[in-house]
Amino acid sequence: MKNGLILNTKILILGSTGQIGKSIKKKINGNVICPSKKKLNLRNINQLKRYLDKYKFSLIINCAALTNVNECEKQKKKAFLLNTEVPDILSKYCKKNRSHLIHFSTNYVFDGKKKFKSYSEINKPSPINYYGKTKYFGEKKIIKSDCNYIILRVAGVYSKNSKNNFFYKLLNNRNKKIYIVDDEFISPCSANFVSDVTLKLIKNITLVKKKILHLTPNGSGTWFYYAKYLTKLLNRKKIIYPIKSDNFNKNNAKRPKNSIINSNKIQKILKVKFYNVKRYIYDEYKPNVIE
Ligand SMILES: NC(=O)c1ccc[n+]([C@@H]2O[C@H](COP(=O)([O-])OP(=O)(O)OC[C@H]3O[C@@H](n4cnc5c(N)ncnc54)[C@H](OP(=O)(O)O)[C@@H]3O)[C@@H](O)[C@H]2O)c1
Repeated sequence: MKNGLILNTKILILGSTGQIGKSIKKKINGNVICPSKKKLNLRNINQLKRYLDKYKFSLIINCAALTNVNECEKQKKKAFLLNTEVPDILSKYCKKNRSHLIHFSTNYVFDGKKKFKSYSEINKPSPINYYGKTKYFGEKKIIKSDCNYIILRVAGVYSKNSKNNFFYKLLNNRNKKIYIVDDEFISPCSANFVSDVTLKLIKNITLVKKKILHLTPNGSGTWFYYAKYLTKLLNRKKIIYPIKSDNFNKNNAKRPKNSIINSNKIQKILKVKFYNVKRYIYDEYKPNVIE
């Protein structure tokens, strides 16, 4: 038994080239299959069904999604397919085959109108953009299927190994002056943190059935706040200005003002205490440095 999984358990990871998928793939042991988009394009639903039927997966970890929030507004059909229909098919397969499903969802299922408090799992979602809507519909499909699922809602994912996140764009922005939104509150997650906790959950997979769990570090701030923290940490000479989201790019999708989700429940289940957001940013960008 490695990572709590019997070695001949057949595991499927979808989205293994993405931030979270790549990190899980690196750490997981066992009989793991990670088809590329070229081999299995999830927009081809019939191909997906045929692929699933060919194998007998005991565990599916779905890290695939259309994660670009602005693109989801423009490409609604694609967003619905990947974020709602794919989880629907996966969960029906898991129900039929008594397999487990680990699926990732988002803090953007909430509208952000809650004042001064974070969202917990008992709060009702009410998404304000199409990305959030399709992810919420995906959650509902999974719950309806009644399979053995764990839905992990994560937020503001980043990874040093990816270009597809806020911190990469910040550090590689050549402008002298950078404007960053300072009125949207979040608890960003490193992909490394998410994959560590996911592996712990897999170890306890028989204990945690049919649950939505929030998975973020403790603490929260705005992207402006974390941008200041990281540039100072790395000694980058960047001039960053705070900006209100209403004055940012008016063509962008709406984002919740408060999308802080608290992960008290998962910490209790796993009997662990997560660190503060800043500690994970530090570990990601400046590991093994003693100051
Ligand atoms: N990123 C965030 O800030 C954030 C925040 C909250 C929740 N989440 C959720 O966390 C999960 C993982 O996010 P992430 O940041 O790791 O995602 P990501 O880096 O954007 O990766 C998405 C993955 O999905 C794959 N994919 C997209 N379209 C596909 C298709 N047609 N066929 C097959 N594969 C396809 C991508 O493959 P290619 O690379 O080949 O396109 C990639 O491997 C998602 O469910 C997301 O909704 C993310």
